[in-house]
Amino acid sequence: MGKCPKCNKWNTLVEELIHKEKKRTVSNGFKKNTPVLIKNINYDKEKRILTNDKELNRVLGGGIVPGSVILLGGDPGIGKSTLLLQFALSSKRNKILYVSGEESQKQIKLRADRINLSSENCFVLTETSTQNIFTQIEELQPNILVIDSIQTLHTDYIDSSPGSVSQIRECSAELIKFAKQTGTAVILIGHINKDGVIAGPKILEHMVDTVLQFEGDRNHTYRILRSIKNRFGSASELGVYEMNNEGLREVNNPSEILISDRDADTNGVAIACANEGNRALVIEVQALVSSAVYGTPQRSATGFDNKRLNMLLAVLEKKCGFKLATKDVFLNITGGIKIEDPAIDLAVVCAVLSSDQSVSIQKKVCFAAEIGLSGEVRAISKIDERIAEAEKLGYEQIIISGYNKISTNKFKIKVIKCNKLENVYNKLFS
Ligand code: TYD
Ligand code: MG
Repeated sequence: MGKCPKCNKWNTLVEELIHKEKKRTVSNGFKKNTPVLIKNINYDKEKRILTNDKELNRVLGGGIVPGSVILLGGDPGIGKSTLLLQFALSSKRNKILYVSGEESQKQIKLRADRINLSSENCFVLTETSTQNIFTQIEELQPNILVIDSIQTLHTDYIDSSPGSVSQIRECSAELIKFAKQTGTAVILIGHINKDGVIAGPKILEHMVDTVLQFEGDRNHTYRILRSIKNRFGSASELGVYEMNNEGLREVNNPSEILISDRDADTNGVAIACANEGNRALVIEVQALVSSAVYGTPQRSATGFDNKRLNMLLAVLEKKCGFKLATKDVFLNITGGIKIEDPAIDLAVVCAVLSSDQSVSIQKKVCFAAEIGLSGEVRAISKIDERIAEAEKLGYEQIIISGYNKISTNKFKIKVIKCNKLENVYNKLFS
């Protein structure tokens, strides 16, 4: 059935086979848990497993917590298997079992050769039955278990095919129970479906401790690892990698690669100090404004929200008197990354104006402010970090909102405060 007879929505039904459970020996026991005063609970400060990958450590909030379960999602071909194999081979002190249901041992070895790493402590198993995996684990006793991918596993207790909702739920439940009982860290790779969410039951994300998302534009080499949920650290941390011929390279200073070289007189380019995942990033915004040939002007943005672009253009039209209604506007954030931080508004507006007026913005100027609906330049969060990052990269001027309070005045970079878009325009173009 394509349509739900109850709510009349299309394509909302998910097949879930109901099976009689085969007998199972999970004894809940009769151990009674009694309430404890919270101040009486003792714990040892958890020791984290530090990986050799600084970006991964950062995203996980300072390493892997033993006994935790991490889910890594991402588009096909984005580099999930590469990331985890690289991690498994470079963390030489930990015994790691890499279970693959997708690739043969030979393929994994080929990949290991390609990324040019080897380790005495990394074992590979091609297996899809959880019961067999547990049998192998008992012998090997690894500290970290990597599963590539959860959608290929099946458990004998359920008859439905691998990848179905009930199989995924059951296999994850078994693995989570195993992780908590033995203190082994488990990392699961999860496929994502065409809507960009991890395939299988939504409940999977609730069950695990940490959810990471690996994303990027397939036509670019940069990959971003984001934490979406983290019970042991801050969510919304961000790690940056570059995919090259020898696997993934950590990019510890992303700002340098996100800015392209340009001549001083290129117009339509503005530099923004964005903040993605607790990390200041200096990025380049490019705009192209040209006369519309067809009736309806086109507005298109890559890496930036289209609706927000339309809003900013409306502000320019109505509040600042620029005639953009008959112009096509194209916007691009270089490097193929997506930015949701509203603090890049000012750079977007300035790039559009620069292209529209055919006047270039000086190379050593950058921007960090949000634009309000009445054309006011609004304050943003984490201004000190952004200014520090711009200064570190050698910028000489930064334009921010007059309402933003800076805690020190020790910056060498010249901080220019503006309250209205007109002031910014006068400073830059007249
Ligand atoms: P993979 O890790 O197999 O992706 P996933 O597991 O997310 O599906 O990555 C495959 C892509 O990465 C593939 O298109 C080839 C590319 N790649 C490189 O560019 N360099 C490398 O060193 C490796 C191992 C892969
Ligand atoms: Mg893979």
